[in-house]
Amino acid sequence: MTPEPGDNRPRRQFFSSGWNWLKLVIGLLVAYPLLRFVRFNVPRKPRHIKVEKKILVGDVHLDADFALFVGEQEVWAISRTCTHLGCRLNYSQEEGQMICPCHQSRFSRHGHRLAGPAQKDLPRYKVEALGQEKGYMVTI
Ligand code: FES
Repeated sequence: MTPEPGDNRPRRQFFSSGWNWLKLVIGLLVAYPLLRFVRFNVPRKPRHIKVEKKILVGDVHLDADFALFVGEQEVWAISRTCTHLGCRLNYSQEEGQMICPCHQSRFSRHGHRLAGPAQKDLPRYKVEALGQEKGYMVTI
């Protein structure tokens, strides 16, 4: 069947399919921030950070993203990002607590919320000892 003169169906189909693609792209552009807003998080790749120093029992090592504690029985790491609005936590050696400089939330050495506007405990990270005096590998 040959197209009738004046029949511009292919052009119509082209614009129709282009319009559908445009609607799909706009839908994706709107859906992504919307999903992020409702906390649909895409899992991120874990980061491995090596702490190449000897830490004495009872001492703490502060990294930009985590605090690494060495106890008598265990070694553990907690996030330094406040669960309220994300400020970087400081460690008070005298009080043995992580303290937020922004709104004074407080967390124990194990990351449990003690006081302040933060409602959640701090995330804990996996720590692997690298052997005698070689340090630790923290996975965040
Ligand atoms: S950001 Fe830490 S208490 Fe508000």
